[in-house]
Amino acid sequence: MSYYQIQNIKLTDLANQFGTPLYVYDADKIIEKISILRDSFKNVNLKIKYACKANTNLAILKLMRKHGVEIDVVSPEELRLAMMAGYEGSQITFTPSGVSFDEIELAAELGTRINLDNLDVLEKFGQRFGNTKGALIRLKPHVFGGGNEKIMTAHPESKFGISIHQKAEILAIVEKYDMKIIGLHQHTGSDVKNADAFTQAASAILEMAFSFKDLEIIDLGGGFKVAYKDGDIVTDMQEVGEVLSNAFLDFSKKYGRELQLWFEPGKFLVSEAGTFLTTANTVKVDPIKTFVCVNSGLNHLGRPMMYGSYHDIFNASNEDESEQDEYRVVGYICETDTFSWTPEGKQGERLINKVKAGDIIAMKNAGAYCFSMASQYNSRLLPAEVLIINGEAKLIRKRETFDDIVRNLVSVEV
Ligand code: LLP
Repeated sequence: MSYYQIQNIKLTDLANQFGTPLYVYDADKIIEKISILRDSFKNVNLKIKYACKANTNLAILKLMRKHGVEIDVVSPEELRLAMMAGYEGSQITFTPSGVSFDEIELAAELGTRINLDNLDVLEKFGQRFGNTKGALIRLKPHVFGGGNEKIMTAHPESKFGISIHQKAEILAIVEKYDMKIIGLHQHTGSDVKNADAFTQAASAILEMAFSFKDLEIIDLGGGFKVAYKDGDIVTDMQEVGEVLSNAFLDFSKKYGRELQLWFEPGKFLVSEAGTFLTTANTVKVDPIKTFVCVNSGLNHLGRPMMYGSYHDIFNASNEDESEQDEYRVVGYICETDTFSWTPEGKQGERLINKVKAGDIIAMKNAGAYCFSMASQYNSRLLPAEVLIINGEAKLIRKRETFDDIVRNLVSVEV
């Protein structure tokens, strides 16, 4: 059954070959998601800019590039990784938040497209580059959308973007320095399932766009919601594609020129491609509940503890569904690090095929914001990563060793 394998390779074989904890990514899934997105926006001049903060493994970046997907970065280090993957400056968008102007200057000198996200930086960019370099402006459309409050970015109190209510200030700066604003950007939030949030945000941006004469790009960010479990409500890409394409084409006609429509999805492209493999160290039977303790924790996959996120969990070593138990799946970190949250966002139990110590416990939706948010907390090593491509499993990041933990320590006499 496909649940237990990726491209015909058994998850348990991968665990044996590479050890656990292990992140495994399915290249076919990523390619499928790219084509779903393209198909949903087939009537417009679409550019996909992968928000690489979701997963910055070089092999994933190269795969995106190979399939015609450009890239969105948020730090000089992501920018360097993008260049290592072969992207040219002009294919990279820099969408930072509250960074120093040095970073923006560096990105501008490397020829990237930059989303300026506050008035101060807009003014500095104008002073420094006048009309010699184009830039995009990140707007805050005052829209509520996103899976939980920590990942909503376009509402009135959000730190991101320049408020649409500061239009007069924006235009004054643009005029003062004769700036070339080539695009407007907004990002509503992450896990946005409601098509209305996208349309509201798009309308706010498109309405404002008439005040800028040099536009080439409308960038509507990322945030498409994917499925975390069977029957989950996801962004209806068909619907969003149709509604947004129509609004965009209508706008382009009135604006007098056909623009490019950009999206910068992270989760949509990589979340479902990832599976995280752990080993059950022990099954701890307690009078109240039974815990499965795995050889990982919130250090490697923090989304459940950070956001109460639901990740499907199953026993990759036991396909026999006739005997199941309710298990609370937890990690080895010395604080609460439950993986098994309920759909309502509470710590809970999952019905899983009978587990014994040594079984491989797998977690789904581990492609986005899992490895990229992992840490060495409790001085634990970061896991290895494997990409399954053309039916072959390739190691794309080695497991850390103790040397990685002590690498930057400076020994002093105390
Ligand atoms: N564009 C911008 C400007 C963003 O800030 C983000 C995500 C994206 C695009 C991509 O959003 P996506 O398509 O992946 O939803 N760590 C959280 C998610 C944080 C998202 C940060 N920004 C999580 O694990 O749910």
